[in-house]
Amino acid sequence: MTNNELTRRRFIYGAGAAAGSYALLPLYSTKPFGDVHPSPSFPAPADSLKDHAARCGLLYGSSVQQRQLASDQPFRAAFISQCSIVVPELELKWAYLRPGPQTYNFSGADYLCEFAQANQMKFRGHTLVWHDALPSWFAGYVNSGNAQTVLLDHISTVMARYAGKVHSWDVVNEAISPADKRSDGLRNTPWLRYLGPGYIETAFRAAAQADPDALLVWNENSIEEESAKAESKRGFFLQQLKYLRSRGVPIQGVGLESHINGNHTNIAGPGFKQFLGQVSDLGLKILVTEMDVGDQDLPYDIGARDQAVADRYFQYLECVLAQQNVLAVLTWGLSNKYTWLPYSFPRPDKAPMRPLPLDANMKPTPAWSAIARAFDDAPSR
Ligand code: XIL
Repeated sequence: MTNNELTRRRFIYGAGAAAGSYALLPLYSTKPFGDVHPSPSFPAPADSLKDHAARCGLLYGSSVQQRQLASDQPFRAAFISQCSIVVPELELKWAYLRPGPQTYNFSGADYLCEFAQANQMKFRGHTLVWHDALPSWFAGYVNSGNAQTVLLDHISTVMARYAGKVHSWDVVNEAISPADKRSDGLRNTPWLRYLGPGYIETAFRAAAQADPDALLVWNENSIEEESAKAESKRGFFLQQLKYLRSRGVPIQGVGLESHINGNHTNIAGPGFKQFLGQVSDLGLKILVTEMDVGDQDLPYDIGARDQAVADRYFQYLECVLAQQNVLAVLTWGLSNKYTWLPYSFPRPDKAPMRPLPLDANMKPTPAWSAIARAFDDAPSR
């Protein structure tokens, strides 16, 4: 790719112009769409996380980017061997799908959907309504007069393209933020400002029409800890879920992002367990959608660090998987070679981070064993 092309891609995808809080990475698509065949060259491990998950009726998978699969054969082979479900890390976000107000670019998402189908993996959709990763044109184009049309057009166009091929869609992402001090706990996003709190119901109803086969999910972060902050978030989330269910809104699942800080042992406590029970009592499915265990606050020593990361994986998954309505566990990345954490939560010593089940050479880490053990111990479903 020439420098010009690279610049053009950065521009098209609006990298650096995101309205949200995370750094937005550019997509470097190096191979043509269509290279989706399984590669037989990598020796398959005796068993894999997807095998351990399947024995108790669960799916295991990961987020991934097109460019990782297209440019890294050992990674691609490891991904195929370990995963029974995949979610695009970037390619279904507005900033990547929407070069302009009237246009769509599906190339990255098409690649990943075909990759999933060619390798017998389920495919997740992430995400339709989020305040983050919005394209650079969004702020100057969307207003209270056209927001409803823009939102409905996006949902129906994107979902129709993949209809029947999607296991579950994150319809709404990270919409609760008690820090924004609203009495309903909702985050102060452009969607809320233009459409009011009803945008959530609108989105779920449109999603159900566009793809009746996909499980429709509200995905949330930072609800795992025993802390006043997380407790407040869980309370608002539950209130919203009850409200939607009482109105017959088609929402079928809750996504727990599960970005865990490896130094925080206050996870999987009574408040969180109670929340899982309450979600289950509403008849909702649960998915662990983006788990990783950040080692940014752990000491450098690699043995101790890997052990702490593995311990958090087991502690958390043992608790969540006790719920029989949990369908899937996805980590946010499979190999430490490709993790978003150093970009958003770097270690102070800048050492490479170790938050995922495979190391940078595709070898299982203690986290891999902890996840496998949690699957082995989980009740069947
Ligand atoms: C992250 C990606 O991993 C990064 O590469 C990107 O720069 C920012 O977004 N919650 C979510 C995910 O729902 O979409 C985010 O993904 C991580 C936090």
